[in-house]
Order: sequence, then structure tokens, then C-alpha cells
Amino acid sequence: MNVDAAAERLYERVRTCDLCPLWTTRTNAVPGEGPLNAEVMFIGEAPGVNEDRQGRPFVGAAGQFLDELFAAAGLKRDGVYICNVLKCRPPGNRDPQPGEIEACRDYLDEQIDILDPLVIVTLGRFSMAKFFPNQAISRIHGQPKEVAGRFYVPMYHPAAALHQGSLRQVMLDDFAKLPALLERARKAQVRPAPPFPMAFVEAASAGPAAPLAPPPAAPTPPEAAAVPAGMATFEPETASAPELAAPPRLAEAPEHPEPSAPPEAATAGRPTQIRLFD
Ligand code: URA
Ligand code: SF4
Repeated sequence: MNVDAAAERLYERVRTCDLCPLWTTRTNAVPGEGPLNAEVMFIGEAPGVNEDRQGRPFVGAAGQFLDELFAAAGLKRDGVYICNVLKCRPPGNRDPQPGEIEACRDYLDEQIDILDPLVIVTLGRFSMAKFFPNQAISRIHGQPKEVAGRFYVPMYHPAAALHQGSLRQVMLDDFAKLPALLERARKAQVRPAPPFPMAFVEAASAGPAAPLAPPPAAPTPPEAAAVPAGMATFEPETASAPELAAPPRLAEAPEHPEPSAPPEAATAGRPTQIRLFD
């Protein structure tokens, strides 16, 4: 199944989901939207009243400020992927409950799997908690963490800046750092191991060669390649976050793997980053 079909099936499951009680009060589920080959994925909290009406994420006041933040980051809304921890609106915009987050979790995990983004930006504490458990947003906002070639950036929720004006500039400044981070993430992409002889990888590597598995006897799809171990530069500040162990992989070969890679692309970080629709 290709990623378009995988996403469409996922969206349909979300629209008809009854895994938690929020299905009874929703008008529309809000699966998420954006190009499936987006490099950056934004994860908010849950739909509000406007999102529930339209079935689209961040279309209310918080969404308007998010558009300003995209502009500060040189991003266009239609070039990024936007979704939420919860796909259905909690009544009265109350906080998501742990059981709801758990019930809805597979959908978000599948979205990350399908998108395989270079950068994940969390908006607010509920999406932050998925990747940065037991952290305070006031301390870590805007600071990227790299795990296996993917960068995770916790940001304040745009709605927070609507309530607390002083956060506006803080958020604009944090978002202004995204272009450089994205550039770094692109450079850190690693080509699949099997097509490259060790000598190539060693020559291209600034530091010690990464422990790569020997090439398999028969050609295999790049996505099935062994993942170099010990790639993450993430220093967990608390107990390790299971969500950050490794980026999930789509369990099928890409349809259009990139044929070759510049030497600098083979240096560090990302086990196998294939842009599916370049
Ligand atoms: N707030 C969110 O967290 N998500 C939305 O989609 C809208 C508002
Ligand atoms: Fe299903 Fe998630 Fe909606 Fe609950 S919030 S009904 S788990 S889609």
C-alpha cells in the first residue's frame, strides 16, 4: 500500500472512530492535513469548536497566529503537515484525558510513520509530553533534540500566546530558528547502507565510521536496510522517553528511492531518510 492509500485509510478510520467517548460529542473528527511528503510535522492538542465544525486543524484564532508563526519560519501552511494528539474535540475545550490520549495514540503514531518527517514540532504540553515526558515547556521551548536523525522541537501552544501576550515574541523567535534547523536536518539525512561500500561511507565520514551492517547477499529495498546503532545525539534529561527510541518506519519499500547521495549525506544521524515523493 502506498502512503496516499495508507493516509486515506487512516483518515477514514479516524472519521468513523468510536474508540473513546469523544466520538459522541464531535461534529467532525479532525484527522490532520498537509502533504504526505512534508518535511515538518506540527502536532497540536485537540480540535476546538471551529476545527470540530470544519474538520480541519487550526482554523480558529490559534490557527491564525500559527499562520503568523509559519511566516516567521519561512513556512507555508500548505507545505507542512498539521495534526493533533486528539482527533475529536473535548467538550468545552477541556484538557484531553489520559484515556482519550491513549485511545487516540495509534492514529498519531501511524501519521508519524507515514510522514516520516525530518522535524516534529510539538505545540503545547500534551504533544510535548509524548516526546519530552516530565519536562517544563518554560525551560525547553524552542530547543531541538535530535534522535536518530529526526529533530523534535517543543514549542508553546499558539493559544497560550493569545492569553499571555508576552509569549508572542517568544514564539516568533522560537519559530524563526526552524529554517536553520531544517537545513541541519536535511544535511543529517543518511542514505541507505546496502548500496554503499564501507569504504565510501568511511571516506565520507568526518568522524569514526558508523557501525553499518554488511551488505546483504541479495539486493533489498533501502527501507529494509539495517539501521546503524548508536546514532542518536539525544541526551535525555529525564528517564528515557520510549517514544524517542527510534523513528517509526513505514513497513514497505519506497516507490521512488533517491538513486544516489552526495558524500556529506552519508555522515551521520538518520538511518534511512527517503523522501517518498520528491
Ligand atoms: N488547538 C489545537 O491544539 N489544535 C487545533 O487544531 C486547534 C486549536
Ligand atoms: Fe477515536 Fe481519537 Fe476521536 Fe477518541 S478522539 S473517538 S480515539 S479519533
